[in-house]
Amino acid sequence: MLRALLLAVLLWGGPPGRRQGSYSASAAKWINSFAGPFIPVMGPFTDCLDNKSEDLVKLNVKVSQHRNRQIDSQTQLQKITGNVTVAMPLTNKGWMYLKAASRSNNQWKDNAHILKFTNGMCRATAENMPGFVRSIYKLDPEKLLKSPCVIPPGVYLADETPVNFTVPRLPIFQYGTWRTEIGYNLGTEAKPRNIMCFMTDIYTVPKL
Ligand SMILES: *[C@@H]1O[C@H](CO)[C@@H](O)[C@H](O)[C@H]1NC(C)=O
Ligand SMILES: *[C@@H]1O[C@H](CO)[C@@H](O)[C@H](O)[C@H]1NC(C)=O
Ligand SMILES: *[C@@H]1O[C@H](CO)[C@@H](O)[C@H](O)[C@H]1NC(C)=O
Repeated sequence: MLRALLLAVLLWGGPPGRRQGSYSASAAKWINSFAGPFIPVMGPFTDCLDNKSEDLVKLNVKVSQHRNRQIDSQTQLQKITGNVTVAMPLTNKGWMYLKAASRSNNQWKDNAHILKFTNGMCRATAENMPGFVRSIYKLDPEKLLKSPCVIPPGVYLADETPVNFTVPRLPIFQYGTWRTEIGYNLGTEAKPRNIMCFMTDIYTVPKL
């Protein structure tokens, strides 16, 4: 999984402007220049515009924003207030996806990068959002990964709840701003069935 992600990061390359120069350098040098250990900082969460989701998992939450993203994120966690409504058990069925658009030449490059975690909605969440699972669902992500993974249905309340969004399985990433759609799909390739969809800007800032 980790190797696949790192490979994905390398293959993705940077925004076009940067990419040209970077490929002449060695991969290691390129990583040092444009990517590295990072902290993912979330912008506000908003609904997907196209109304394609059945919203069986719905995030009705506000995410606190840092005053100085690059500096405050080093020591302060973002806080979540609101509720997450889960209308069906999340198990090893389905998949989670991230569609990230990057900012370049003053516009968003649509679906520049697509990540699909096909090992089930529960495992994908436990692996990629362990801090969220711990703070909001009050479950131990490591335990979930070692047993039949289930996030039970319920209304999960949060009140200024600190959430660590670090992805331990993805230690390095390109720095930048990623307008990202995050969702769950419970269907098939031919007949997708979206049951969660939200948008956020993810800022990958250097971990100092
Ligand atoms: C979104 O879709 C649902 C059913 O698929 C419909 O009931 C609802 O009115 C739609 N909302 C908007 C804003 O289009
Ligand atoms: C978030 O979790 C990571 C990995 O466990 C840790 O290194 C980091 O210090 C945590 N961030 C904060 C602000 O506590
Ligand atoms: C969850 O949040 C929504 C939107 O803010 C709100 O309408 C609803 O009442 C909340 N549900 C609970 C159980 O707090």
